[in-house]
Amino acid sequence: MRVLIVGNGGREHALAWKLLQSPQVQQIICVPGNGGTAALERCRNLPLNVDDFEGIARFAFVNNVGLIVVGPEVPLAMGITDYLQAKELNVFGPTREGAQIESSKAWAKALMEDAEIPTAKAAVFADEAAAKAYVRSEGVPIVIKADGLAAGKGVTVAETVESADSAIAACFQGQFGSAGSQVVIEECLSGQEVSILAVTDGLTIRPLLPAQDHKRIGEGDTGENTGGMGAYAPAPVVTPQLMEQIQNHVLEPAIAALRSRNIDYRGVLYAGLMVTPAGEPKVIEFNCRFGDPETQAILPLLDTPLEKLLLACATQTLESFPAIEWKAGASACVVVAAEGYPGNYPKKLEITGIDQAETDEVVVFHAGTQLRNQKLITDGGRVLGVTAIGETFDQAIERAYAAVQSIHFESMYYRRDIGHRVRTVGSSSN
Ligand code: AMP
Ligand code: GLY
Repeated sequence: MRVLIVGNGGREHALAWKLLQSPQVQQIICVPGNGGTAALERCRNLPLNVDDFEGIARFAFVNNVGLIVVGPEVPLAMGITDYLQAKELNVFGPTREGAQIESSKAWAKALMEDAEIPTAKAAVFADEAAAKAYVRSEGVPIVIKADGLAAGKGVTVAETVESADSAIAACFQGQFGSAGSQVVIEECLSGQEVSILAVTDGLTIRPLLPAQDHKRIGEGDTGENTGGMGAYAPAPVVTPQLMEQIQNHVLEPAIAALRSRNIDYRGVLYAGLMVTPAGEPKVIEFNCRFGDPETQAILPLLDTPLEKLLLACATQTLESFPAIEWKAGASACVVVAAEGYPGNYPKKLEITGIDQAETDEVVVFHAGTQLRNQKLITDGGRVLGVTAIGETFDQAIERAYAAVQSIHFESMYYRRDIGHRVRTVGSSSN
């Protein structure tokens, strides 16, 4: 089978790497891919834009592509799946309507309310004065969210009324484009965040291993929010009982509510949850795609052939698919970024040492890289996801950090405390 992957991040490199472990996968095409996917055997990059639906469909037809896997949320929200499914191609990724679960926080909130999914109390405003009055009636801390896709930047956890007011003003002044024309104001939850990535064919839904990521740029989980600076799996805070609760009270009701809206959702439903101090799961947000970097941490532990699992979702045969199998042990991914990220950062810096970093237990997933004239250069804020497996978290994390030591580019930055919640020995001295 030929598989086409849409996207160019670390998540897409991890998907390609895992798919290629199946002998049944003859070739992978990444649109547009990155320096890591360019170097994989049996994989090639195709330089099309992710919104060139017609070009992607034409290529898939002519080359007999058996499965298309869509990585990022933007083409999903634009309707790539609708377009490709109309051409009778097998697509893993929801339709435009299904992608609203991520592309409109107000829509997702309404779905959660209908389905009685536990989540933070919230109200939606299209008027600035009413939004500010609500903050005064509820008090702080409180969470202000631009309604639409804002590349992870549309959320402010406001500790003071003044910061809530300025976040509301920023939304209505168009700082997040049309994403800010509605504002969701939400109760501030406390506890541990976990990421549950579940695969679904619209009828059956099955969770992958629970993961946790580190969203903040700085050590001790401080500073600005980022796309994610590291991740690990399986997150021990998600006990089997909690996973059952998540299945029954979050995942199943979400799929049922999507179905009742006539949405045939085939892809990943990613539940970003807060596990409250009382041990209850509450949904912070849903995403309509694989998490990045959670996917990099989860896939190295997967034993089930990935192409079979994704195809079962795309062709709506997940119910009869065997139980998903996992390796024992733990996995950790340390993101190596360019200094300055998530703000401005330099690009086109030469990267060395990846070959020395990789072992049987370590794989370096590329995020923002490019192969140019046989040289690997940086091409984004998050550059690499150095991922290791081990019998324990301590071992996986030590291996990942040891591998990071072999890698070099000017101004590389990484957090030294990835996995601090799950380590039993002191944080890495690297
Ligand atoms: P989101 O884009 O909805 O994932 O929000 C980004 C981040 O803001 C989350 O990962 C949380 O760390 C934080 N956040 C969002 N909503 C809440 C909430 N209701 N209570 C506390 N923190 C939140
Ligand atoms: N790591 C968070 C996300 O993928 O949205």
